[in-house]
Amino acid sequence: MKFFIDTADLAEIHEAKDMGVLDGVTTNPSLMRVASERAGKPLDFFDHIAKICNLVSGDVSAEVTAVTFDEIMKQGRELATIADNVVVKVPLILDGLKAINALLQEGIRSNCTLCFSPTQALLAAKAGAAYISPFIGRVDDISSDGMKLVQEIIEIYTIYGYETEVLAASIRHPMHVLESALMGAHVATMPLGVIKKLVSHPLTDIGLNKFMSDWEKFEQQSDTPQS
Ligand code: G3P
Repeated sequence: MKFFIDTADLAEIHEAKDMGVLDGVTTNPSLMRVASERAGKPLDFFDHIAKICNLVSGDVSAEVTAVTFDEIMKQGRELATIADNVVVKVPLILDGLKAINALLQEGIRSNCTLCFSPTQALLAAKAGAAYISPFIGRVDDISSDGMKLVQEIIEIYTIYGYETEVLAASIRHPMHVLESALMGAHVATMPLGVIKKLVSHPLTDIGLNKFMSDWEKFEQQSDTPQS
């Protein structure tokens, strides 16, 4: 399973990369706003995405901010010039599907975002999206089952052999990652906080403390002169 970080914050991307587990990055307009606020200055979108693309060798999703075919195509083509690892994030709307297919004809890969139903995901695969992004947490937020959405997408894609990768998104906690992994989602994108939570286990901490204190006692014994 590939791990992407869901952020546009360069410091967070650096931190995840240093952990040795990072395969790529997903961004969106809201995450750009957060990164800009944290930077304390307006960020140049293209320049910022270029910096992220330089940081990681894997795919970096950069989202269009358009809802018409022509405008999505224009922005998609521009974004694709930034780097080879840019994937154009396109909303799951009629013009978006049309653009995903047209971008593919030009060799430009897309991540179809804002997916909330398995039949939407079926359309994205038929249009030729490289990735489909089901938003797990946002489905859970409306008292529905985000994991069931992922399960059904994987089932449909497996039956028909679609190559579109399932990118579990809107991940809020480690159980979303565990269940996505068990279901065979190709990618999980998550905030830095969730990646860090995956590391922690109380028994690891208890075991490590015991090893450290026993080692200290062992060294004290070794330092004590034998009579
Ligand atoms: O990248 C999009 C997605 O992961 C959004 O997550 O937490 O805003 O629902 P969230």
